[in-house]
Amino acid sequence: MRVERLTVNIGAEVTGIRLRDAVGSDDLFDEIRSLLLRHRVLFFRDQDLGNFSRADHVAFASRFGPLETHPVAGSHPDYPGLVQIYRSEEKNPYENNWHTDGLWRSNPAMGAVLRCVECPEVGGDTIWVNMVEAYARLPDDVKSKIDGLRASSSIEHSFGAVMQDEKRRELGRQNPPVEHPVVRTHPETGEKILYVGSFTTHLLNYHTPANVRWGIDKNPGAGLLLQYLQSQATIPEYQVRFRWKPHCVALWDNRATQHYAVMDYWPAPRKMERAGIVGDVPF
Ligand code: SIN
Repeated sequence: MRVERLTVNIGAEVTGIRLRDAVGSDDLFDEIRSLLLRHRVLFFRDQDLGNFSRADHVAFASRFGPLETHPVAGSHPDYPGLVQIYRSEEKNPYENNWHTDGLWRSNPAMGAVLRCVECPEVGGDTIWVNMVEAYARLPDDVKSKIDGLRASSSIEHSFGAVMQDEKRRELGRQNPPVEHPVVRTHPETGEKILYVGSFTTHLLNYHTPANVRWGIDKNPGAGLLLQYLQSQATIPEYQVRFRWKPHCVALWDNRATQHYAVMDYWPAPRKMERAGIVGDVPF
């Protein structure tokens, strides 16, 4: 196995292995798992369906934990847990944003395994950002300001926004807003992670005498702080950008990263398949 770092802060390409072999090998799986904790996102090429079938994809991801079901995206009819992210100009065109998968869940995904089935000749890259680094590089006064802050995240205002009103409300009823710490702790490494993304709607406990003299300080104070924190994901020094080819696979630690699929490829279609792994409740 060869591991080549792609940037200083995040991302490595792993060559010389077949992911299918990690399904049955504890040693290989453990090695991949520790590389994941170190590099946050790993890339593997040439994992075609002959070598790494959909069943292998599901089996490999399931070694990390049970797979998620998605209330809007559904999953492959024959492979529960495998979400088909198939996009073209006519089907599912939408604007992307920086996000950690499932931040609207009480236990957002631990990670995901994403395979490229078909991609445009050019465009359609995905960018990942290291949110451990984003937290570490915050100014000290911001770190103390956000210590202990909690934020609300919801699916209704994101996936739900394009739905008819009643369908949107039903999605919200089935998946009510959740509360997470603005700074979470990585359950395996103990690192601190800046933990707000585009599913985050507002801060929940900003309105205290320390932050707010009069009511008018609350807004835009809380909104501006959240916007500032969300903008940290856009800093290139914390990012890696991957140019897809068919049969490439990405494995990421969803607790420590956010990602953004660049939508610059219309009218070419782009087909990806993702297995999201159930995570724990952030603390
Ligand atoms: C995702 O947002 O989880 C999928 C990323 C991609 O399609 O590149």
